[in-house]
Amino acid sequence: MSLVITIANQKGGVGKTTTAINLSTALAAVKKRVLLIDFDPQNNATTGLGIYSSKKGSSYDLLLQSKTVSEIIMETDIPGLTLLPSDINLIGAEIELAQIHNRQSILKRALEPYNDMFDYIIIDAPPSMGILTLNALVAANGVLVPLQCEYYALEGLSQLLKSIQQIKKSFNENLKLFGVLLTMFDKRNALNLSVSSDVKTHLGNMVFNTVIPRNVKVSEAPSHGKPVLIYDVKCVGSQAYMELAKEFLLKEKESKWRKN
Ligand SMILES: Nc1ncnc2c1ncn2[C@@H]1O[C@H](COP(=O)(O)OP(=O)(O)OP(=O)(O)O)[C@@H](O)[C@H]1O
Ligand SMILES: [Mg+2]
Repeated sequence: MSLVITIANQKGGVGKTTTAINLSTALAAVKKRVLLIDFDPQNNATTGLGIYSSKKGSSYDLLLQSKTVSEIIMETDIPGLTLLPSDINLIGAEIELAQIHNRQSILKRALEPYNDMFDYIIIDAPPSMGILTLNALVAANGVLVPLQCEYYALEGLSQLLKSIQQIKKSFNENLKLFGVLLTMFDKRNALNLSVSSDVKTHLGNMVFNTVIPRNVKVSEAPSHGKPVLIYDVKCVGSQAYMELAKEFLLKEKESKWRKN
């Protein structure tokens, strides 16, 4: 049975895609079968893996053209990591889906036949709380929230946690919060330090111990079409993402995340 992890935060540029790509890569590196679903019209998870176009279609075709997962997915250069790409067509999905019955659970239904094919399915959600993110959260066992320790981060976070509670109540009673991940952290930055201490006070052990530091190699990697773990495995950013994967697997072992 696969564990479906949605990486979500309605705030833009907080490290969702970077986390989706590198957590996927780190899990594939320890021999897990991983499907990464790019569910954002910006398709950064797709181009970040060096894929610039796909003739087989995208997550748009899954949502609106009744294509199946197996018709669209593609192998990547990373052994064990399969990608379901996105493309710009997904921008129109919000409007096109408006008339469709049960539009919030299309992704969930599309994934059901593939439960045994992957150990982990990681969904990179867009920076908004619209129908795409809703589909990603309805399909998920749980959500991982990357958080940049900037001003307003806590307000955005409490809004997001409220939305997650609402979705849990209305659409997916099993939805869990897998954890909050502090990203792009600079320990010399006083605001980063004070926000991270506030987040830990509010959320306690829901915050991953692993913190992703701000690291120039992490920001360079996408322009080379590679996860930072492949671009420069030794850099502090790569080491942090490997640490995150380890912590995630340990937390999962001690949890009932796969149980409904
Ligand atoms: N640890 C890091 N150190 C340095 N740069 C980073 C780090 N993490 C992410 N970045 C850079 O910050 C930018 C935003 O990251 P990313 O695309 O992962 O965020 P996002 O939440 O997916 O954004 P969006 O909301 O637009 O989808 C990117 O240019 C990325 O390369
Ligand atoms: Mg993104």
